[in-house]
Amino acid sequence: MSTLITDIGELTTNDPELGRLTDAALVVDDGRVAWVGAAPDAPAADERFDAAGRAVLPGWVDSHTHLVFAGDRTAEFEARMSGKPYTAGGIATTVDATRAASDAELAATVRRHIAEAVSQGTTCIETKTGYGLTTADELRSARIAARHADETTFLGAHLVPPGADADAYVALVCGEMLDAVAPHVRWADVFCEQGAFDADQSRAVLEAAAARGLGLRVHGNQLGEGPGVRLAVELGAASVDHCTYLSAADVDALANSGTVATLLPACDLSTRQSLPPARALLDAGATVALASNCNPGSSYTTSMAYCVTTAVLQMRMTIEEAVHAATKAGAIALNRNDIGHLAVGARADLHVLDAPSTTHLAYRPGVPLTHAVWRKGERVR
Ligand code: NIG
Repeated sequence: MSTLITDIGELTTNDPELGRLTDAALVVDDGRVAWVGAAPDAPAADERFDAAGRAVLPGWVDSHTHLVFAGDRTAEFEARMSGKPYTAGGIATTVDATRAASDAELAATVRRHIAEAVSQGTTCIETKTGYGLTTADELRSARIAARHADETTFLGAHLVPPGADADAYVALVCGEMLDAVAPHVRWADVFCEQGAFDADQSRAVLEAAAARGLGLRVHGNQLGEGPGVRLAVELGAASVDHCTYLSAADVDALANSGTVATLLPACDLSTRQSLPPARALLDAGATVALASNCNPGSSYTTSMAYCVTTAVLQMRMTIEEAVHAATKAGAIALNRNDIGHLAVGARADLHVLDAPSTTHLAYRPGVPLTHAVWRKGERVR
């Protein structure tokens, strides 16, 4: 069954040849984009959807979330809003609640947050383990994540469990835990930060993961400048996420690498950090992605639109840069070329805004603008 989506006021394709089209149309067939072009030239299809002048863009690619969790950290958030700093230590609260939850409870939480994200235009979501921190708990987190999310990442190196010996824990992650979890995930990540894992420990985890064929990602430079970015670039990680505090050398290293700088502005605001230096990264030539970092501690939102709005209003990104960062660059961060764009052959992941242009994402901050969503060619909202 093919669908013609026509009378598109503004079509963001993220395709270098097609660019941004006005008065456009697009045909979806068999889960893929089958045709894109000017509305008057569109071929016939089995069904027709009239976009009535609305903007259409690729679905959001949320390349960084932590959805396998249980429990609530409202009290920690309230304390932060009263001036208490964010530390990695809060992760332990969620680890306790996650270990105590049943598989069914964890799966229901993942499903609920993914449904919430999809209803706001997200069509590809990555999620991580990292609130289990034992082999059994990380394994079940990975299994649950892999059943529900598009991309799954092992983050056994999220925190040294309270009371554990750091070196012994790193050895466990690099050995038994990776052996158990690797078959269920595509990526491995490490929280390279003060209070979590230092450069040597992070390197050990990443090298052990790479030896098992996993792609690499790094949480780095979230709470201060540190070795995360340098390590990610050196080891050829697909992305280094957070990048809140960067030296000039970090910016330079990212600009001269294939590692995507994934910025998580909702997290920076929720933890009362500075916002990341997006302008410096873009001006230097780095690839910048935006993601929600949805988790119960540092960033409890699934809204990619909020990240785009913040990037434009507070990080000096243009609308075009921010939309690209939340779609195509997210796909690059996940090493995917089938999503994040709307050229012929792309997965038919489309987001129809209740607005004539993507500019309205920042021009009308906070207003829910999602009108319709297609994922893999199916209308899901
Ligand atoms: O990306 N930085 C480490 N991990 C998460 C926070 C997890 C938490 O506080 O529960 C993050 O912000």
